[in-house]
Amino acid sequence: MEIVLATHNPDKLREISDILSPVGFDLRALDEFDGAPEAVEDGRTLEENALKKARAIRVFTGLSALADDTGLEVDALGGAPGVFSSRYAGESASYEDNCRKLLDELSGISDEMRTARFRCVIAVALVKEYAESARHLAEALSKSPHSTVSSNGGRIDALVTEGIVEGRITTSPRGKSGFGYDPVFEVLRLGLTFAEMGSAEKNRSSHRYRALIEMRELLIRLRQDMGG
Ligand code: IMP
Repeated sequence: MEIVLATHNPDKLREISDILSPVGFDLRALDEFDGAPEAVEDGRTLEENALKKARAIRVFTGLSALADDTGLEVDALGGAPGVFSSRYAGESASYEDNCRKLLDELSGISDEMRTARFRCVIAVALVKEYAESARHLAEALSKSPHSTVSSNGGRIDALVTEGIVEGRITTSPRGKSGFGYDPVFEVLRLGLTFAEMGSAEKNRSSHRYRALIEMRELLIRLRQDMGG
């Protein structure tokens, strides 16, 4: 099964390939396709954005396409920055700007009230032959909290999974690795920020990893349904 990865980010490409290639999926990088469209992330939810990106790349390449969208949800801020995580401090905000704004907004908030989570949604928009098989998956997934199918024009055409990591926003940045909100997000289970972990350790416990593992299971079941 051929799948185009709808990202130009080399770290994400590696992370996704590490999980999907060993089980035999034929992954294609978006860079192989000249002039691929850049989807505007204007959805109200992470799922809308991931589906929009995946469907746009499926239309452009004629192949099944995988896209993701991630948000940081801070309870004391009513779930913000959420879908606006990349531009929390403005359209061209740097990672540092976003972290600084977050710490400012939470100044004076006690440790117990600084709970937050990273939520990653992965969508795979399927080409027609696989979309037919996805109809059989829909019923099996009806009780699954982190996996679902999505319809377009009344026809199931995509798989969607979610990965969540619970944590807490620190009072100052800690650690040097990673990107984005890593220095201010402490993973509850480990007591370390993502920026205090090595990349291997982060990848093993990240929201993206969890969503990808769920997606790998769905794709394997879909392939089995197709007799592959
Ligand atoms: P994207 O959907 O993966 O582009 O993520 C949107 C924004 O969420 C990014 O610009 C980062 O600020 C933040 N983000 C996503 N994943 C991570 C992560 O693993 N660590 C820290 N920040 C992240």
